[in-house]
Amino acid sequence: MCGIIGYIGTKNATPILFNGLKRLEYRGYDSAGIVTLDKEFHMKKDVGKVDEINTRLNFSDLPGTLGIAHTRWATHGGVTKENAHPHTDCEGKIAVVHNGIIENYQELKKNLVSNGHKFKSQTDTEVIPHLIEEIMKRGKNFHDSTLSALRSLEGSYAILALHKNERKIVAARKGSPLVIGVADGSYFAASDIPAFLEHTKNVVYMHDSDVALLTDTGMKVFSLLEGGDVNRKVDTVDWDIRQAEKGEFNHFMLKEISEQVETVQKAVQQTKEVVDGVVHSIRNAHGIFLIASGTSYHACLAASYILSKLNKMHVNVVLASEFPHYEHFLTPKTLVVAVSQSGETADVLEAVKYAKARGCKILSIVNVVGSSLTRTSDSFLNLNAGPEICVLATKSYTSQLALFTLLAYALSGKLEEGKKRLNYLWNVIYHLTSATVKEKIKELAEKLKNKEHIFLIGRGLEYTTALEAALKIKEVSYIHAEAFAGGELKHGPIALVEDGTPCIVFVSEETEKEILSNANEIKSRGGYIIGVSPTNNEVFDFWLKVPEANNENPIVQIIPIQILAYQLAVLRGLDPDHPRNLAKSVTVK
Ligand code: F6R
Repeated sequence: MCGIIGYIGTKNATPILFNGLKRLEYRGYDSAGIVTLDKEFHMKKDVGKVDEINTRLNFSDLPGTLGIAHTRWATHGGVTKENAHPHTDCEGKIAVVHNGIIENYQELKKNLVSNGHKFKSQTDTEVIPHLIEEIMKRGKNFHDSTLSALRSLEGSYAILALHKNERKIVAARKGSPLVIGVADGSYFAASDIPAFLEHTKNVVYMHDSDVALLTDTGMKVFSLLEGGDVNRKVDTVDWDIRQAEKGEFNHFMLKEISEQVETVQKAVQQTKEVVDGVVHSIRNAHGIFLIASGTSYHACLAASYILSKLNKMHVNVVLASEFPHYEHFLTPKTLVVAVSQSGETADVLEAVKYAKARGCKILSIVNVVGSSLTRTSDSFLNLNAGPEICVLATKSYTSQLALFTLLAYALSGKLEEGKKRLNYLWNVIYHLTSATVKEKIKELAEKLKNKEHIFLIGRGLEYTTALEAALKIKEVSYIHAEAFAGGELKHGPIALVEDGTPCIVFVSEETEKEILSNANEIKSRGGYIIGVSPTNNEVFDFWLKVPEANNENPIVQIIPIQILAYQLAVLRGLDPDHPRNLAKSVTVK
């Protein structure tokens, strides 16, 4: 996690770095810092969000047309000014920002300390500038010393390094994301494209173990893997800067929830050739695994129900972090479908590496083309949802569901019917995200905002919605929310129900009878029942009306709860775009 950005060009670097940091804050926001270079380094860093630090320290007077910056999600060392990046060497000649984890930092630090290096922080990152300094002492130049230092690092990194006497940025990546932006007379290097999208749409996706040297006159890329200079082509992204801005919305979360009117349609705009190719690989596979983390995992769970219903097909759904335990079932005929919004989740990448080592074919479903996952897969499908900035996954989830549903239709030879059904949903989503529905949900949020626990139940496909809904509520409002399969209540969880305990019940035509009887069991023990259902029922204390959408129910039913989670956070005085302890791309294991 953590976000990094660097700039070299003719403009004042600080405003570019500052705005870039704000766009990267979804990756971490416990401290931040900027260093610029003219004749010397000028550095400011502190704990807090970028805007808060700016109010205290005023970044704007940092001079120079070259600089690097960082926004942090702490892994090694507490949230302190000393641990905030950039980090420097003993003499303050080298400055580094880093995203990732240096696994062998303790060993490296021990050696450096025994060679007289003085450390100022508890971070793993600080070994990097000291290591470069140590190698430079032996007579190597800054660039070559950085290459040597990188060779001794174990773990993952995206780093940007500066030397006080040289007008250049050394940018390197291994396992953590880093993209280069190319504009007239200037270069950017950042964890993600939105950080510099207002300046250029021309990007170079760095490959793993690439080290780029950015100067005023050009860019050169060296591959640590291939051991020489390499050519990396410049791509043009079709993202629009407005997609990375809040516009009329108070928060990205609400903006992205509203965007689902379009993003579900965009997800299913796949060509027949692409879909046919995927259908072919699914049909020819001997064993299929869907792997993902968090919200993307919930989309996989829903997909497994849809595939079983529509195609009588069995797929294994495994949390990416648990996947290595399935070693014995993997063969070169196994198809692994890795699902990830960011395409950078360390658990997913690790699982894919594991599967590849056993010869499995990898198909990925991602929202960020050019991410590590797209590059390591045999083929990939693009969710086309546009940048998702809020830490919480909302639009990417419904896009994943839409794409999986489309594949299920295609597998039963009904691609066009599937497209039609999914396209039609824009109408439903438009209504569910309207001001009237939002007002009604706010009424519910007022009733729930001081509750300590919220339970959620569903059966079949609606059980997977309950799981995702619980995650949305808990991660943004910090209210304990827990989902159960309706049939499991009597096996234990019902003991938790007390007078006034809220329970959200997801109802579909298929599961109505049984899930309503579970709702009645909760109600007769004092529970407060919120029905997410096409029709009202006397058991409901509060009714959120959603139309019956059969296989598409997961897409439709999650939307009111995304809005509820948002409203709960706002009413509790929390920032929905930046929940505590979380970061958007989880690039650590
Ligand atoms: C929840 C959320 C996380 C992510 C998870 C996987 O709102 O955002 O649970 O879903 O970290 O991220 P990706 O899909 O980028 O692999």
